[in-house]
Amino acid sequence: MRETRLSADQLVLPLFVRNGRKLRHPISSMPGVFQLSPDELLKEATKAFKAGVPAVLLFGIPDKKDEKASGAYAKNGIVQQAVRLLKRELPALLIVTDVCLCEYMSHGHCGVVHHGDHGVCIENDASVKLLARASVSHAEAGADLIAPSDMMDGRVRAIREALDGAGFTNMPIMSYAAKFASAFYGPFREAAESTPKFGDRRSYQMDPANAEEALREVALDLQEGADIVMVKPALAYLDIVRRVKAEFGCPTAAYAVSGDYSMIKAAAAKGWLDEKAATLESLLAMRRAGADILITYSAVEVAGWLREG
Ligand code: PBG
Repeated sequence: MRETRLSADQLVLPLFVRNGRKLRHPISSMPGVFQLSPDELLKEATKAFKAGVPAVLLFGIPDKKDEKASGAYAKNGIVQQAVRLLKRELPALLIVTDVCLCEYMSHGHCGVVHHGDHGVCIENDASVKLLARASVSHAEAGADLIAPSDMMDGRVRAIREALDGAGFTNMPIMSYAAKFASAFYGPFREAAESTPKFGDRRSYQMDPANAEEALREVALDLQEGADIVMVKPALAYLDIVRRVKAEFGCPTAAYAVSGDYSMIKAAAAKGWLDEKAATLESLLAMRRAGADILITYSAVEVAGWLREG
C-alpha cells in the first residue's frame, strides 16, 4: 500500500575535489564530508557506484581564485581533470558538474562583480558568458549532465546555445531553477570555500517568501531549454517541489543541502535524533512532494540502509 518509494537509483552524491594527492580534508560543519584530491575522489566515487548510487555531482575548489573565475573554464581546471579521470575509470557512473563562478572568484560571488559609483553590483550578462564557457569545458572533459547553480538571468539559454554550438546537442541541462537565498547553505560554503567576501546573494537568489516567483523561474528555465529542474534547498521548500511537479510535470530534482545534512548529523551526534530514520524520512518526504531525483550528501549511507531493508 506504500504510495512512495525510495531507491538508490534516485540518488546523486555531491563531491568536492581539489588539487593534491591522498588528500581528505574534513569539513568541520559537515561530518563525513571531505574535500578530496582526485585519487581520493575516485575512491569515493567507486564506493558510491558500488553501493548503487548512479550519479555524482562535482564541485571544484581551485588553487587560485581571481576576478574572472578563470579556474571555472580552464581546460585543465580541477573539475575538468576530475571528470576526465572518473570517465576513464568509471565509465558507467553519471557525472553531473555544478556550473557556478563562486568557488573560482576571489570575492566569492556567483557572478562578475562591478564596482561602480553606486556600490557593487553583479554583471548578469558578463557572468552568463563565463558560465557558458565553463559548461562547454565540462562537456569537453566528458561530463554527462550540466547543472548551472548561479541563478543569473538567461543562463540556461546561453548554456544551451553554447553547448549546441560546440557540438554537444545531446548534452542535458539540470538547472538549479528555484534556488533560494538560504541560511541552509552555510556549511557548504565552508566546504567549497565560497563565502562571499562582501554583501550576500540576495540579488540573484530568491527570497524565501516567494513561491509564485519560483514557478516563474522554473517556467523560464524550461523555456530556455532546461531538461531537469531543481528546487533548493529541499526540506524547507517541499511546497515548491510539489507545485513545480504538479505544474510542469517535468523531471524534478530536490537538493538536500548542506544545512539539511548538518542538522541531522549534529542532532544525531548528540543522541537527539535517530540519524538513519530521520534521513530516510526526510528523503521520503521529498519523494512524496514530487521529486524524482534526490541530491544528498548521505547518498552512500542511504543506499546501504535501503539494501539492508
Ligand atoms: C554554488 C552553490 C551553492 C550550493 C550549491 N551550489 C551555495 C551557494 O549558493 O551559496 C549549496 C549546496 C549546499 O548547501 O549543500 N552557487
